[in-house]
Order: sequence, then structure tokens, then C-alpha cells
Amino acid sequence: MKALVNGVVIDYRDEGSGIPVILIHAFPLNQMMWSDQVEALREYCRVITLDLRGFGNSGVPDGQYSMDQMASDIRELMRDLRIDRAVLVGLSMGGYISLAFYRNCHDAVYAMVLADTRARADTDDERMQRITRAEKVALEGVLVEADFMRANAFAHSKVGQLSDVIERMYTIVSKNSTRGLTHALHGMSERQDLTHMLSEIKCPVLILTGSDDELTPLSEARILHDGIPNSMFREIAGAGHFSNLEQPRQFNALLLEFIRSL
Ligand code: MLT
Repeated sequence: MKALVNGVVIDYRDEGSGIPVILIHAFPLNQMMWSDQVEALREYCRVITLDLRGFGNSGVPDGQYSMDQMASDIRELMRDLRIDRAVLVGLSMGGYISLAFYRNCHDAVYAMVLADTRARADTDDERMQRITRAEKVALEGVLVEADFMRANAFAHSKVGQLSDVIERMYTIVSKNSTRGLTHALHGMSERQDLTHMLSEIKCPVLILTGSDDELTPLSEARILHDGIPNSMFREIAGAGHFSNLEQPRQFNALLLEFIRSL
């Protein structure tokens, strides 16, 4: 389905009924990464996925995509779908966007799941590396980001058993555009440090992380857990950065347990 939000066509799926749960995808993926979660959740809740601006089948406007801008797109989509409050489930970049959303409109957040993500901004070195990655994408195409993720995102001890998952990741990345990925890399490089906000988060929060995530290691998840009052912390044994793709059964079980406890 399509909606026009903030002047951009946003492609989304809206299935099931009950408490609204919005799944916010990682970089450099799109809503296709959530297909196993949609299957598992739609019997129990209203599950919504979307291609963020610049990704998948959504429009690709010019300009840097800030986390606030993408959070505002989700808020506008909620208005379009007549949803006042939702559970936000964000993985990695989706987590950065969830935190920006909470800062800007916490009244619209029923609960959050922050998976394989962090609260801090990029360091100067990380920012430079991101700019270099954006230049490489612009020159060589989106699959350089799939190569980057193959090398860095998956649990090393399991990589031999993950060929199907890695192939699926390549397929998903191939549906994105060089301009969209470049604008999102620039947006992430400028994101703000929201660590100071963690102690003010009042809604229920589940922090999920793959035990072998090297891109957003356990130490980052612990900062979220220590900072957010009454948050729950669950580790997915043997999973890397894209824990929902690598260990969908464990991921779904933890997600459902949390949603059904609300
Ligand atoms: C993601 O999975 O969304 C990215 O690893 C986030 C990032 O590059 O910081």
C-alpha cells in the first residue's frame, strides 16, 4: 500500500488487528527484512512495516535523511492510518529512528523494542568512514553496502551456515537505490547523541541484541539497559547484527512475549 507523507510516497504493509506494532528497518535494508516477523505477529496484533524514505518502493527525495525526518514520516503515516499510539520496534538504524521519535513525540509511543542499536552519535572517525562509504555507494552501487554487511554484520562462528540469510540480505539490498542509501548514510552521520534522554524514557522497553553483534556490540545494548529505567534486556545467543534475520524464531518469541505482556 502507498501513502503520501511529508510529500514523499511511502510504501507500507498493514496486517492483522489489535495493538499497533510498527517495525522500523535497518540500513541498508528495507521492510522486506521483517517478513518472518510479520508472519509471526499478525495473528496477535496489527503489524505495520514500511520502506523508509529512500528505501525499497518508497520515494527517493533529495537531501540528507535525518533520523528526525524519518521519525516524522512514521508519525505522519500513523496519522494517515489513524493510529494514536504504537509499539515501535527498531533494529539498528530503526532504533536510532525510534529514539528520535520518542524524543519528538513520546505521547505516541506505547512501548519500544530497541534491537541491535545504540543511543550515541557517530565518533569523528565513524562519521568520516560513513562519508567514504557514501562516496563508494555513489560510484559503485548499492551492493558495496551488502559486501560491507557480509563482512561485518554476521556472527563469524555461524557464517558458514548463513548462506541463505546472506543471499536474502543481498536480494533486499539490491531493491534499494544508490541515492537513497547515500542520503541515509549522510543522515546517520549527523545523528544526535541521545544518551542523555535514556533516563527520561517512561514507556516499557525491551532491549534485544545478538550476542555476536560486532557492529553494535553488547556494551552498547548495556548502555541502553542501564540508562532506561525498568527496561528489559534479552540477548539472542549466537546471532550477529541482523538478529531478526539470523535467528528469527528466537527473535519472534522474545518480541511476542514482550508485546503480549503489555
Ligand atoms: C544498520 O544496521 O542499520 C546500520 O548498521 C546502522 C549503522 O550503520 O550505524
